[in-house]
Amino acid sequence: MPEPTPLFLVGAGGFGREVAALVEAVNTQTPRWALQGFVDDDPALHDTDVMGHPVRGGVDWLAQQRGPRFALALGDGESRRAVADRLAAADLQPAALVHPTVSVHRTVTLGPGAILCRGAAPTVDVQVGPHAVLDQHCTVGHDAVLDACVSLRPGAHISGAVHLETGVTVGAGAVVLPRVTVGAGATVGAGAVVPDDLPPHCTAVGVPARPQ
Ligand SMILES: CC(C)(COP(=O)(O)OP(=O)(O)OC[C@H]1O[C@@H](n2cnc3c(N)ncnc32)[C@H](O)[C@@H]1OP(=O)(O)O)[C@@H](O)C(=O)NCCC(=O)NCCS
Repeated sequence: MPEPTPLFLVGAGGFGREVAALVEAVNTQTPRWALQGFVDDDPALHDTDVMGHPVRGGVDWLAQQRGPRFALALGDGESRRAVADRLAAADLQPAALVHPTVSVHRTVTLGPGAILCRGAAPTVDVQVGPHAVLDQHCTVGHDAVLDACVSLRPGAHISGAVHLETGVTVGAGAVVLPRVTVGAGATVGAGAVVPDDLPPHCTAVGVPARPQ
């Protein structure tokens, strides 16, 4: 069996701890990752212990390391995009992290650094972009395309052939109906139902969802 791969998590906050638990769950099935610790730009966290792992420094510290994998355990998609840009020139590869409860069909593609949490359910011919986060128990239907740094909050439902452009956030329990395109950077509020395309950078709430 191959040696576990060294891994750092960027972000030692609430979502960071959830992703650390995801890594523990993966390792109980197969010892895949050697979690080396967290990285966080909040200096108050440096040299502290989070869930039994050290916070080693900030993103600039991580950028100087050679070889380990990393995952962006930041809930906010814009923050993930900004950190990914800062690490683009570093000698580091993102790791896609998939909870052992998640079934990834062979027709589903996962971009580097994608994080699929407990119970996330992409079906077939789904494209999940780099550093996208599918939180617990969200569903994604056939032929959906999720661009980089998309965030699906718990229980969001994305129908078939939906296109979520870069940095879109879909709130908890929201539903995006078939073939809808949501523009880059838009936010869909918790519990919304989205029947029509949404423009970039809007916030839309309600049933049917309308930009505020
Ligand atoms: C839509 C959202 C992004 C708006 O956040 P915001 O810009 O901070 O907005 P506010 O909380 O100031 O609310 C603005 C107005 O929208 C209403 N509103 C907020 N969220 C709403 C929602 N999901 N559905 C319907 N109305 C909503 C508020 O009641 C308020 O109405 P008012 O002006 O009549 O008082 C946020 O409320 C939301 O739903 N985020 C998703 C959060 C989520 O899913 N988290 C999961 C955690 S894991």
